[in-house]
Amino acid sequence: MSDFSAIDSAARAILRKNDRGGYTIPTDGLYPYQWNWDSAFAALGFARFDPARAWRELETLMAGQWASGMVPHILFHEPSAGYFPGAEVWGCEGRGPVASSGISQPPVAATVARRLYGADPEAGRAHVARLAPRFLAWHRWFMQWRAEEGMICVTHPWESGRDNAPDWDGAMAAIDPAGVGEYARRDTAHVDPHMRPTRADYDRYVWLVQLGRRLGWDEAALRRESPFRVADPTMSFILLRANRDLLALAGPAGLSPAERREIEGWIAQQEAGMAGLWNTELQSYDAFDLRSRRFGGTITNAAFLCWYAGLGNDAMRAHLERILARVDYGVPSTDPEAPQFDPRRYWRGPVWAIMNAMIGIGLEEAGLLDLARRVRSDTARLIAEQGFAEYFDPLTGAPAGGGSFTWTAAVWLGWAGPGGRDAGRRKAAGEEG
Ligand code: DGY
Repeated sequence: MSDFSAIDSAARAILRKNDRGGYTIPTDGLYPYQWNWDSAFAALGFARFDPARAWRELETLMAGQWASGMVPHILFHEPSAGYFPGAEVWGCEGRGPVASSGISQPPVAATVARRLYGADPEAGRAHVARLAPRFLAWHRWFMQWRAEEGMICVTHPWESGRDNAPDWDGAMAAIDPAGVGEYARRDTAHVDPHMRPTRADYDRYVWLVQLGRRLGWDEAALRRESPFRVADPTMSFILLRANRDLLALAGPAGLSPAERREIEGWIAQQEAGMAGLWNTELQSYDAFDLRSRRFGGTITNAAFLCWYAGLGNDAMRAHLERILARVDYGVPSTDPEAPQFDPRRYWRGPVWAIMNAMIGIGLEEAGLLDLARRVRSDTARLIAEQGFAEYFDPLTGAPAGGGSFTWTAAVWLGWAGPGGRDAGRRKAAGEEG
């Protein structure tokens, strides 16, 4: 596909096809429900051709919020046989208004809302007034339960959205999944097992779900008892960005002075805490295991979200340049010089369009325009040459994982494609005006 308007139409068709009436599934078969950050990116795509539908996506997502403020990583709106672990495994009945999982996911929704609002403040005002209190409660939940020394931690690799990244290897190795019992994976029926997490990973994913369930998804109990508690660069950078974006929406959303001060306090706490994610040996941001007090020890694409959070530096730029020089298509999810690098296996090598979008936006804002251009044009090339795959091999560009993927289509429409560039410019103009 080289005709941009044909790619635009194909991307729109994917969003329409994956639309289940108010929420969008990531892809049919492999992921048949509403996933949290997938949904926020879907809104970014819808914004290009149906802004009302984009707002609706954020509203259905936030409608799944628990009383605690947590917004689950999966909302099981309609039963579907093709996915494991389903609602009955999570055991969260009655916890939220919609059947759900018991963990969250990176909070990109407030950032997307800011962009939607910037494109059309008049139409957006009522939406931000309704949504901002929910974002606030969600971010407060993170700050209350997941902020450790100003870093934001995850209690399950699935919560980070980067399931089998090397970041979790140490913490995962410390789990003995004995007693996890028999279960049947469904993901490997949809996708080549070499492109998915291993059996050893999956035993631990399921074991951690069983632990959460046994503890009644009580955050205080999880903080006390779970062996898996890892400060995550994705979560930390994305929440910091989201807090800034929520603060920018405070005026139109009608948040009170006390609420604004509360958000400012979170931002200060997070900015101070970021030092804890700096691995001096690696000279990079890195995941930090709060139980063993050890770093992950591998550079992943999560570290390059630093600019997105306004915290880039020369060492990170040098790493990005080194890594981009080694691959035809950046940004690989794992450093190609690391022993864990595996170009097809999910978060251990492949390129993910959504990560590229956030990395590229950050680079552009930081004035690193050559790098920003490279990341954007690699993303556009991958999609134009290979279609809307879930992720791509950084060495060959080969598509991997699920196909007809919502967030890849959305990233084309909202950022990587030529129309996405215009949308970005309109947004910038709206914010200045
Ligand atoms: C999966 O099932 O692979 C998801 O990433 C977990 O939400």
